[in-house]
Amino acid sequence: MTKLVVITHPNEILRKRSDEVDRNFILKEDTQNLIKNMIETMHNDDGVGLAAPQIGKNIRIVIIGKDANPDKKDLVLINPRWNKLSRKKIVDLEGCLSIPKTFGKVKRYNKIQVTATNEKGEKIEFEAEKLFARVIQHEVDHLDGVLFIDKARDVYEIE
Ligand code: CO
Repeated sequence: MTKLVVITHPNEILRKRSDEVDRNFILKEDTQNLIKNMIETMHNDDGVGLAAPQIGKNIRIVIIGKDANPDKKDLVLINPRWNKLSRKKIVDLEGCLSIPKTFGKVKRYNKIQVTATNEKGEKIEFEAEKLFARVIQHEVDHLDGVLFIDKARDVYEIE
């Protein structure tokens, strides 16, 4: 396993819209290794999620950490899309590995429907709520060049 370098704000890569990937790309050995290294890097840095632009790749791959997933498994979402299932939005504190030591309150939908492709190239579809839904919305934002500080209130830094 290789520990990847997480790039930090400000950086142009974090602000680009990332490209979708196809099944052939997903199944390549290099991509499979990249996914494993992203999972390793996320856990090493104590993140609950990681998006490919954060490790310098503008492709639509995100990892959702097992701590945010009710199934307690790390989840790989490729070309993810979501729709809201509730009108209700909830405010909670967020941080980001690309914006160290910074936190802010962000409003997110409480319940969403997610469709994506997994690391095996299979279509997956599921519902997510609370922290799980929040992390997915945060990571998908990364794929569109959006950072939590763009949406946050009461942003603060710690020592
Ligand atoms: Co982030």
